[in-house]
Amino acid sequence: MTGRAVTSLTNPTVKAVRALHQRRERRQSGLFLVEGLRSVSEALELGEAPKILLYGERAATHPRLLAAAERADEALMVTDAILAKVSRRDNPQTVIGVFAQKTTSLSKLDPTLSPLWIGLEAVRDPGNLGAVLRTADAVGAGGVMLIGECCDPFSVEAVRATMGSIFATPLIETSLDAFLSWRRAWPGTVAAARLQASDDYLAAPYQAPTLILMGNEQAGLSEAAAKACDVAVRIPMLGRADSLNLAVATGILAYAVRARLEGR
Ligand SMILES: C[S@@+](CC[C@H](N)C(=O)[O-])C[C@H]1O[C@@H](n2cnc3c(N)ncnc32)[C@H](O)[C@@H]1O
Repeated sequence: MTGRAVTSLTNPTVKAVRALHQRRERRQSGLFLVEGLRSVSEALELGEAPKILLYGERAATHPRLLAAAERADEALMVTDAILAKVSRRDNPQTVIGVFAQKTTSLSKLDPTLSPLWIGLEAVRDPGNLGAVLRTADAVGAGGVMLIGECCDPFSVEAVRATMGSIFATPLIETSLDAFLSWRRAWPGTVAAARLQASDDYLAAPYQAPTLILMGNEQAGLSEAAAKACDVAVRIPMLGRADSLNLAVATGILAYAVRARLEGR
């Protein structure tokens, strides 16, 4: 996998990969960028092959790079300067992969596949979204539902924050209306995470499968979404902060619910 590295930003493959920083381009192509050999290897382990692989000379003989390049539709060695431009970082990863986006619809989701699911309403911060996907993977959640107008889970920032869990966590995209009507058939508990709730998150009743619904960073959960829940729970705020960061609240609640469902 050695030879002359591509040095030109006008190379058509390099141009196509760079364009994936734009949401419009990601939507049209159905592709997204993944940085780092660790995340690319994670994808391969889960059966996803890269469409394109850009790599620097330092990675060219790495066994995991060779395995990824073999499965890629196109693999191209590029200079560090190109990697920096493509990733928009001074200190870029030595491997960048392009993969197909994968999401599921509500109609294909089987709630009984996992005791725990996570829903995010109108999440705006890609870092939060990525951190929630990573947490969902870590806690063994069945998947993450993106409800309403959310930021793009396939943006470079969101994917970076997942640390490879973008491939391990099923993603479901839905409008609020579709979610509200589909939710009526949910076989377990739907729990709203709300600052205004009176039930403590450690004391509330949860039945598997439990779907925890988290609100937007500024506005919290909408009234419509909150009304559709069986229970509303609050994590006590014991200092001066008036709320937790969305991803942190998701992590605390997800692990607590999982433990409660398992009788721990
Ligand atoms: C940054 S908070 C939103 C704060 C917003 N001002 C509000 O009134 O909800 C983002 C989301 O994290 C969850 N959250 C944050 N802190 C929480 C807490 N102490 N108890 C329950 N949920 C919390 C809620 O789902 C909330 O909608």
